[in-house]
Amino acid sequence: MTMKKRLRYLVLHGPNLNLLGTREPDVYGRVTLDDINKSLKRLADELAIDVDCHQSNHEGTLLDLMQGAAGVVDGCVINAGAYTHTSIALHDCIKAMPYPVVEVHLSNIHAREAFRHVSRLGPAVRASIAGLGWRSYTAALRALVEQVRE
Ligand code: DQA
Repeated sequence: MTMKKRLRYLVLHGPNLNLLGTREPDVYGRVTLDDINKSLKRLADELAIDVDCHQSNHEGTLLDLMQGAAGVVDGCVINAGAYTHTSIALHDCIKAMPYPVVEVHLSNIHAREAFRHVSRLGPAVRASIAGLGWRSYTAALRALVEQVRE
């Protein structure tokens, strides 16, 4: 009998997402980062996969985590926060990784200020999901797993 390898995913939360719950609740709601990570863990149990969640306010740390996951994970879900709109380094890193990356946002960045309409990550990622609140993350994770299993 051949044992199938358990799928593993990296979830990255970028700058200021540690403040969820109290940060601009009219935009981001009252859900905390811990709540989001718990929802992701629940989904991971349901799908029988592993998920590693990290938050950092530092661009370089996000890059190190992504690079360190090469050969370890089957995909990544990233909410790069404001680095979405500025980081060519994250764009380049995503392009260099052997695994698919889905960009997520709690808010609909296209319906907000003009400076949020451009994503530097957009051209490098497999897909982007914005505007579903915490469900942007679970939708991305579920889709990544389904793409492998179908
Ligand atoms: C965000 C949208 C970004 O424009 C913003 O800088 C964030 C959060 C979101 O999840 O809606 O920090 O990525």
